[in-house]
Amino acid sequence: MNGHIVLLPGDGIGPEVTTAACAVLHAVEARFGHTFHTAPHLIGGAALRATQVPLPDETLQAATAADAVFLGAVGDPAFDQAPPGKRPESALLVIRKALGLYANLRPARVWSGLEASGPLKPSVLAGTDLMVVRELTGGLYYGEPRGLAADGQSAHNTLRYSVDEITRIARVAFDLARRRRGRLVSVDKANVLEVSQLWRRTVQQLATEYPEVVLTHEYVDSAAMKLALAPSTIDVLLTENLFGDILSDEAGAVCGSLGLLPSASLGAKVGLFEPVHGSAPTIAGRDIANPIGAMASMAMLLEHSFGLASEAAAITQAIDDTLSAGLRTADIADPGTTPAATSQFTAAVTAALSRA
Ligand code: NAD
Ligand code: IPM
Ligand code: MN
Repeated sequence: MNGHIVLLPGDGIGPEVTTAACAVLHAVEARFGHTFHTAPHLIGGAALRATQVPLPDETLQAATAADAVFLGAVGDPAFDQAPPGKRPESALLVIRKALGLYANLRPARVWSGLEASGPLKPSVLAGTDLMVVRELTGGLYYGEPRGLAADGQSAHNTLRYSVDEITRIARVAFDLARRRRGRLVSVDKANVLEVSQLWRRTVQQLATEYPEVVLTHEYVDSAAMKLALAPSTIDVLLTENLFGDILSDEAGAVCGSLGLLPSASLGAKVGLFEPVHGSAPTIAGRDIANPIGAMASMAMLLEHSFGLASEAAAITQAIDDTLSAGLRTADIADPGTTPAATSQFTAAVTAALSRA
């Protein structure tokens, strides 16, 4: 297998976790005899500092021409007061739209030995293995009109979804549920929002094509509660852009740390793979970030963009082995124990991959 991967390390802990994910990729190359060409490009605050724009044309061109894109994180407090188009985060919104990445898959599960690392009782967390399917190129994030009034006294955003947008993301969720445990919960706010009423009706109509999937609907406030109270009862959770952003961070916390969660953004030719977490500026540059979300995102990249399911499973196994050996980064370490540095944890995962 020969492949061309564009790397977008970005800001904060983005470069550190990208280095970790690449170390894992190199271990996979050595073990399975593949060659991947990786090319780093600028995005986010790093791009703003170097080129005055958050997403340089050459970055977008390289991403469009690649087989897959891996992203670390974007976000830099230095640009917190900048106007929307001059913020690091806008690069992510533009590249998602440009690559047609309407389907964002965010799996969340209990990792070996981490049953007691999160805020929940181990008995409540046990068996948790869910998939958030988040619509990624519509909703409030992209709706027009939007803006701040000239007098600065009001602002507005637009929430709009079409039947076609809802149908195509719901199809992704139904297809996943069919291959998993056959349960799909669609999350909305249909007791208040017309958009949610359309969402619910559209998902319900599609359900006739998937008789083997048990579909339920849940309001987002109640779903947030269920995710904390009974996460193991959720199989596939389908929702719109903003709700999915919020619920996936909650899923990370429930499983022990936001740093654990990977994601795949799919839709057209090129997929983009990134950990769910952000640039975590307060821990950046200290070699303490959890690289598991990034490594697991690299596994999703290999599986979805190159069809390398065994290689992806080998990465997951190596992470599991490393956790089973007792290594923990600071975010998941038990009080009173010495945490592993990012680089140390990464070396252990690559060693586990090479040993096998
Ligand atoms: P964040 O995800 O960066 O951090 C939230 C909390 O989780 C912090 O306490 C952080 O230290 C911790 N955390 C996150 N990832 C971790 C990891 N791998 N290991 C250990 N701890 C980890 O969210 P935030 O603080 O709200 O945002 C910081 C910046 O990141 C903002 O500029 C935001 O816009 C941006 N952001 C980017 C992305 C992305 O690139 N996909 C996602 C979310 C936020
Ligand atoms: C995420 C992030 C992004 C989002 C931001 C940085 C634009 O929070 O990927 O979850 O809201 O989608
Ligand atoms: Mn988010």
